[in-house]
Amino acid sequence: MNRSIIRGLGFYVPENIVTNDDLSKIIETNDEWITERTGIKERRWVGDADDSTTSMGVKAALNAISDAEIDKNDIDFIVFATLSPDYYFPGPGVSVQKELELDTIGALDVRNQCSGFVYAISVADQYIKTGMYKNILVIGSEYQSGGLDKTTRGRGVSVIFGDGAGAAIVSASNNENETGGILSTHLHSQGMHAEELALLRPSTSHWVPQILKENDPNDISYYPYMNGNFVFKHAVTRFPQVIGEALQQNGYESTDISLLIPHQANLRIAQFIQRTMKLTDDQVFNNIQKYGNTTAASIPIAMAEAKQHGRINKGDLICLAAFGSGFTWASALIKWT
Ligand code: UT7
Repeated sequence: MNRSIIRGLGFYVPENIVTNDDLSKIIETNDEWITERTGIKERRWVGDADDSTTSMGVKAALNAISDAEIDKNDIDFIVFATLSPDYYFPGPGVSVQKELELDTIGALDVRNQCSGFVYAISVADQYIKTGMYKNILVIGSEYQSGGLDKTTRGRGVSVIFGDGAGAAIVSASNNENETGGILSTHLHSQGMHAEELALLRPSTSHWVPQILKENDPNDISYYPYMNGNFVFKHAVTRFPQVIGEALQQNGYESTDISLLIPHQANLRIAQFIQRTMKLTDDQVFNNIQKYGNTTAASIPIAMAEAKQHGRINKGDLICLAAFGSGFTWASALIKWT
């Protein structure tokens, strides 16, 4: 069986910085509440820029391609994770194929929200291990700001989410003497909680013509809904479980982790995981302070930034973990090559 390695990483975030103080000018909130409850100080929102989920994904992809030192035409498959596709259908995978002018390679879209990137890495890993593909472009990209309820009514959700994209090149290792790469991935779901964190409409039970016909100014079902406390409680249980599962499968202890890169949902969640798993500050990477929660993009942005900052090096044991809407949760353990 082939070994999959992460050969390159890249990210892109819009230039437009929105601070907590900026938000307090449009909704009843303040820097103290947002900082204390989430750790977020600022986030990037597309704003007036000419960016889309696809275009940000493409910019992150170009950075990953350059980091991997491959030719873009060496990519033989695309996996794109997002909850904010540019179109209801088709998904943005095909738009990346077009924008990068790649030959008619396959493009797959993953709909697993905050866990989307880890699910996407798992998909890529299987294709590489079986020998079906050699270089897979995996993207997590989100343009969420346009769809948020930016009034006081929506403040429990809108202050948290940000825009941006991250990408990885997952490749077959061509070094026979080397061990490592993606060791294992672990995927879970619990659909009974699907509506606790969801964007319910438009849907098959409520298509756009019906929404337009009803023209109800109090209808907020086309804004994301999150039962924050409920999600939080499940997150702090599932994260340690799924990280523990990855460690156990590979015969490691939490002290062996070089760097845990958790989905950047809330700094308090990351700190809770750190305490529960008795990890040191050096073992956990967080950048939610600067970017907010960028859903499927948060892990690849964090991974790319961690690598840029010298926090990921050859031989390191890197753990990715995510939890979110679905509910879905997932982890990946990587021995960096
Ligand atoms: O990435 C996908 C997974 N997502 C997560 O894992 C998120 C999990 N949940 C959370 O991170 C937290 O639940 C939130 C950050 C969303 C909310 O924090 P919380 O500590 O659970 O606050 P809360 O929702 O219980 O609200 C507490 C109070 C309420 O006021 P009252 O009822 O106590 O008077 C809210 O109305 O804070 C109020 N509030 C705000 N105040 C100022 C809610 N949002 C805001 C705000 N600014 N932005």
